[in-house]
Amino acid sequence: RIDARESLFIVNEFSKSHFSENLFESNEGKSVGMSYFKERGFYESTIKKFGLGYAVRDRSDLYEALKSKQYNIEVATKLGVVKENRDFFNARVMFSIHNLSGKVIGFGGRTLSKEKKIPKYINSPESEIYNKRKTLYGLYHAKNDIRKKDECILVEGYTDVITLHQSGLENVVAASGTSLTEDQIRLIKRYSPNIKVLFDGDNAGVKAALRGMDMILAQDMNVKLVLLPEGEDPDSYLKKVGVDQFRTYAETEAKDFIQFKTEMLMAETANDPIQKSIAVKSIIESISKIPDTLKRSLYIKQYSSILELDESILHRESNELIKGEM
Ligand code: UTP
Ligand code: MN
Ligand code: MN
Ligand code: MN
Ligand code: MN
Repeated sequence: RIDARESLFIVNEFSKSHFSENLFESNEGKSVGMSYFKERGFYESTIKKFGLGYAVRDRSDLYEALKSKQYNIEVATKLGVVKENRDFFNARVMFSIHNLSGKVIGFGGRTLSKEKKIPKYINSPESEIYNKRKTLYGLYHAKNDIRKKDECILVEGYTDVITLHQSGLENVVAASGTSLTEDQIRLIKRYSPNIKVLFDGDNAGVKAALRGMDMILAQDMNVKLVLLPEGEDPDSYLKKVGVDQFRTYAETEAKDFIQFKTEMLMAETANDPIQKSIAVKSIIESISKIPDTLKRSLYIKQYSSILELDESILHRESNELIKGEM
C-alpha cells in the first residue's frame, strides 16, 4: 500500500515525465517549447537535468493521461496540476521544483505569449509536500557546490539558476515566488554561512534584495551584494558578456551588505541632521542584528568615520537596539 504522501510524489513524477515527453516528442512541444529553450541557449543535458518540459495548449492533455493510467484525480487536484478536471498549466514551458532529495514537489510554468494580461509565470500551489517558504529553487542541484565553494549565490529567477549552472556556476539558488524567508536562510546555512546576492538591475530588484538582508545577518551569516547593470538579470548578463567576464564582475563588484547599505543611504541623504539620523539609525539597526560582538564592534569602528559619528555614540545606539530586542 502506498501512503498518501508517497502518492503525491508519484503523481508529480508522472506529470514531470508527461511534460518532458511533450517537449521531446510531440509536434507542438518540439516546435514551440523546445525551440524556445534552444533560443534561450539551454542544452539538452540541462533540460533533462532540471526536469524542464512543456504543457500543451489542449487543457485536457495531462488530465486524460492521468485518467488513462488510473492515477487519482483528487491527488492531482491537491497538487494543483489539475483544477476542476482540467489542466492547470497550458501553453507553457515547465520548470520542475525539487526537494532536497531530488523529488518533484511542484512546478513553475512560463507563458510564451507576449500578451501583457497573461501572468508570465504561474506556479503550483502549496500542498502537503510543497511549502514555498521552505523551498529554494535549485538547491538540490546546488548543495554540493555550495559546500565545496563555501558560498551560496542567490538569484531571483528559475532561468538565472539554470543558465549559471549550465555555465559551471553550480552554487546558485533562487527564492522564486516568495521574498526570502528565515527558513530559506537556515536551509542555506546548512551548507555555507556565506551568501552572495545577485539581483536584477532594476528598482524592484534592489528593494527585493535589501529586504531579506537583516535576516541573514541575524543568523550570523555573511552577505555580499552584487548589483547587475541596469536592465540585466544574471541570465541575460551572463549571455551578454560570457562566463569569464560574468565571474569577474560578480567578484569585483561584490559589496559587503553594510557597506552597500551605507553608501546607498548616505548618497540619498543631504547634509541635513534629521535625514542623516534616520539613515544612520537604519544602518545601526542592520549592524545590531549581527550576533557576534567582535564583528559588530569592528563594523562600528570602520563605519564611524563614514557616518561622521563617534564610535561611542554608535555603540550606545546599537546597545539600546539590542536591549530592546531582548
Ligand atoms: P522575473 O520576472 O525576473 O523572471 O521573475 P525571469 O526569471 O527573469 O524569467 P525570464 O527570463 O523572463 O523567463 C523572477 C522570478 O519570480 C517568479 C519566478 O520564479 C521568476 O523566475 N515570478 C515572476 C513568478 O512567480 N510569477 C511571475 O509572474 C513573475
Ligand atoms: Mn526583475
Ligand atoms: Mn523580478
Ligand atoms: Mn530573465
Ligand atoms: Mn529576471
